[in-house]
Amino acid sequence: MRTALITGANRGIGLAIAAGLHRLAGIKVLVGSRRHAEGEKAAKALGENAVPVQLDLSESENLSRQVNSIVDKHGAVDILVNNAGVLESGNLLDIGRDKLNHSLQVNFLGPLELIRQLVPGMNTRGYGRIVNVSSGWVPSPRDCPVPLLTPSVRLR
Ligand SMILES: NC(=O)c1ccc[n+]([C@@H]2O[C@H](COP(=O)([O-])OP(=O)(O)OC[C@H]3O[C@@H](n4cnc5c(N)ncnc54)[C@H](OP(=O)(O)O)[C@@H]3O)[C@@H](O)[C@H]2O)c1
Repeated sequence: MRTALITGANRGIGLAIAAGLHRLAGIKVLVGSRRHAEGEKAAKALGENAVPVQLDLSESENLSRQVNSIVDKHGAVDILVNNAGVLESGNLLDIGRDKLNHSLQVNFLGPLELIRQLVPGMNTRGYGRIVNVSSGWVPSPRDCPVPLLTPSVRLR
């Protein structure tokens, strides 16, 4: 049985991806959510072979510990779907550093950290799939929102 980890899977597109993977036979779905109760609810709705796992991408300091604990508890991850994201709006010239750092952490550095942690195991086992869900929204340079700076899809 393959194991898939989907970040931000408690709602929205992440939940839809989790449901889609869950429908496929032979895939255990790890429903990532930053608030465990939300993940529990979503996993319960999906049913057997859907397991809630807590994963907060904004916690840069202990992100690797969170991932290690998921792997220790649920086994190796074969499929990683980097779906979680935040959309901070604002003008690039004056958006606050906190918002910018948060966006970079959740949309880019967090997903990159997950890839860096999980790819070596995928290589060793000879199987791995990574999907990066991203966004781009560029109405004009003046109004350019933060997601343009943090396109996780550019990892590939
Ligand atoms: N919806 C669109 O039209 C659209 C278009 C293009 C691309 N996308 C991309 O698709 C992805 C999902 O979008 P969506 O519309 O489903 O978004 P959404 O409904 O806002 O859901 C975002 C998910 O990310 C989670 N999340 C936010 N911050 C997190 C953090 N620090 N750690 C872990 N999880 C966190 C949220 O958790 P909480 O429930 O706890 O907040 C939620 O589960 C995003 O990457 C987005 O950029 C969406």
